[in-house]
Amino acid sequence: AADIFHYDLLTGRHVVITAGPTREPIDPVRYLTNKSSGKMGFALAEAAAEAGARVTLIAGPVALPTPERVQRIDVVRAQDMYQTSMDVVEQGCDVFIATAAVADYRPTVTADHKIKKSTEEIHLTLVKNPDIIAAVASHDKRPFTVGFAAETQDVISYAQGKLTNKKLDMIATNDVSGSNVGFNSDNNALTVIWPGGHKVLPLASKRQIAKQLIELIAIRYKD
Ligand code: CTP
Ligand code: CA
Repeated sequence: AADIFHYDLLTGRHVVITAGPTREPIDPVRYLTNKSSGKMGFALAEAAAEAGARVTLIAGPVALPTPERVQRIDVVRAQDMYQTSMDVVEQGCDVFIATAAVADYRPTVTADHKIKKSTEEIHLTLVKNPDIIAAVASHDKRPFTVGFAAETQDVISYAQGKLTNKKLDMIATNDVSGSNVGFNSDNNALTVIWPGGHKVLPLASKRQIAKQLIELIAIRYKD
């Protein structure tokens, strides 16, 4: 599908993308996080810029270079990614793509000093983080909102549930129970679902998959 990629599909549009993991501090030197590499989000930012969009990339801690013509805002905690996303949506954008693997929970308190080793067992209490994409999709300046769902079982039904519950326009889902797709891989395969339709994007490089997903978004966004 690379040969049919149009370079002005998103000209004049502002596309916002969240990417990577978040990092939830326990104390000044420790945190909770996950295995997200940010590769899919960065590939989408590159593809959106190539399609002519103005791109804002809200990135958690990742080891990736910023794609050309992309404005990158680095964040650390889920709460920072939430606040930055709300500010950008408030200013106005056309498409919001949430590829970030946002930590669902954060430590209820962050210790001011490094926690000292003591008893045999200690307990960490966690509290739920805000759902960024759900807040974006219910915002009064709501952009076309696209979610991602990495699942290890019942992939399509869980993704369909998220599409409905979070009031998304589209969700891209992949099965991460195998080892050759998702997370740190350079390849990915996606099933893209929207209200009333779906499309399978078979295993390809994240760059190729990104171009195909940007094309699909541009087409559905116009409807
Ligand atoms: N997401 C988000 N903010 C959160 C959690 C998730 O914006 N606090 C977004 C992700 O970026 C992704 C989509 O929601 O686009 C689905 O994320 P996922 O972790 O699969 O869904 P959850 O609602 O967190 O459900 P669960 O982890 O229990 O499957
Ligand atoms: Ca989650």
